[in-house]
Amino acid sequence: MFKLDKKTVIAFGIASVLGFGSNLMAKVEKNVDGSVIYPTKNGMYTLYHVNTKAENTKFNLGRKPTKNEIKAWKIEVFPDGEGLPEGKGSVEDGADLFDAKCAMCHGDMGMGGKGYPQLSGGEISSLKNQPKGPGDEAPTKTIGTYWPYASTLFWYIKSAMPFNHPMSLTNDQVYSLVAYLLSVNEIEIDGEELDDEYVLNKKKFLKIKMPNRNGFYPNVDGKNGVENMKKFLSNPKNYGTGSRCMHNCPRGKVVHIKYELNDFHPALSEKRDLPKEVGVKKVKTRIQKLYDETCKACHGNPAVGAPVVGDKKAWAERLKNGMDNLYKNGINGINGMPPKGGNPNLSDKDFKAIVDYMVNESK
Ligand code: HEC
Ligand code: HEC
Repeated sequence: MFKLDKKTVIAFGIASVLGFGSNLMAKVEKNVDGSVIYPTKNGMYTLYHVNTKAENTKFNLGRKPTKNEIKAWKIEVFPDGEGLPEGKGSVEDGADLFDAKCAMCHGDMGMGGKGYPQLSGGEISSLKNQPKGPGDEAPTKTIGTYWPYASTLFWYIKSAMPFNHPMSLTNDQVYSLVAYLLSVNEIEIDGEELDDEYVLNKKKFLKIKMPNRNGFYPNVDGKNGVENMKKFLSNPKNYGTGSRCMHNCPRGKVVHIKYELNDFHPALSEKRDLPKEVGVKKVKTRIQKLYDETCKACHGNPAVGAPVVGDKKAWAERLKNGMDNLYKNGINGINGMPPKGGNPNLSDKDFKAIVDYMVNESK
């Protein structure tokens, strides 16, 4: 449809997704092959690499993953246990691992309080709390009160945690973390309490029954799952006020789209300046690699609230109190910044070198 310039990444979708009239579309198309051109910097388009050798010549983004890459990330554990690897781990080992690798975000014993998900505590009955206004008590959704299956626990921790270093845990370590998290949630297996010496393995894992396993409706498992779902959705009493309505609706009112395309400054159709494309990327230093591993998940993502590397203003603000202050706050942690970015294995020297690198990249 559009012919895209090789050196640019174009989000031609914006105008079409928003559904603007054909008039405007025609104009945009003539302008710059679609609509907006985003700036690339150091070969990056926000978090994504711009790959000028892309196989997909339309977008210049990424490349096909290799078979082994897919294999490495393809971790699936189903409620019936399919996909669960062999392995074992004790509650005690799990407790040590949790203190070292998880508690700085999820709190002692997973009790939360640090702005990251709470993993234990709460009562199933709290799921009935329907907050009707600010300050009302909301449901406490933890592993113990909410999750219907333990399989998610294995799969999720294995592939996504620790947040700042996913895929770094062995299967045995994940077994021990699962054992520990079940024990702090006071979940028993086959009538047995999970004390410190308890060793969880695949066989025992398959016997776990989560407290809230029957708390979900409609029942979408098994051969009647689809029918149950259809029945549920065909009854408007199951959502909203129980009556369908297009006008004079009993509660709330329809919100109209507030902004027009022209309200954006500069207009979405305007061509933005591109910084000069830099040459072949230099080989990464050890410190850059450490940054990628431990810090980038947060400091490369504007949604997290961390000062983004490359954002001059954000760093200038923080530099006002001097480098030593940055080191200190980073090492001890501050607000959403976990101590040493959540990696206690980093030496102070390396941590400071990473901060230097981040600051230099943001000048
Ligand atoms: C740097 C902070 C951080 C560290 C360290 C961390 N987590 Fe998380 N964890 C998060 C965030 C953030 C989420 C929510 C992610 C999301 O919703 O996309 C999360 C989600 C989870 C969840 C799912 C919670 C839910 O209710 O959805 C589990 C389970 C979990 N983490 C376990 C662990 C374990 C086990 C470790 C240690 C091996 C760990 N986490 C280390 C930040 C962290
Ligand atoms: C889990 C997300 C997360 C990770 C991982 C993370 N940071 Fe942060 N970082 C933050 C947030 C959020 C802030 C802003 C904290 C504030 O001031 O409210 C921050 C702030 C900082 C600051 C500024 C402190 C100040 O005094 O203003 C430095 C320096 C820093 N991080 C360094 C690092 C380094 C180095 C790493 C990796 C070793 C790292 N961070 C990993 C979330 C993270």
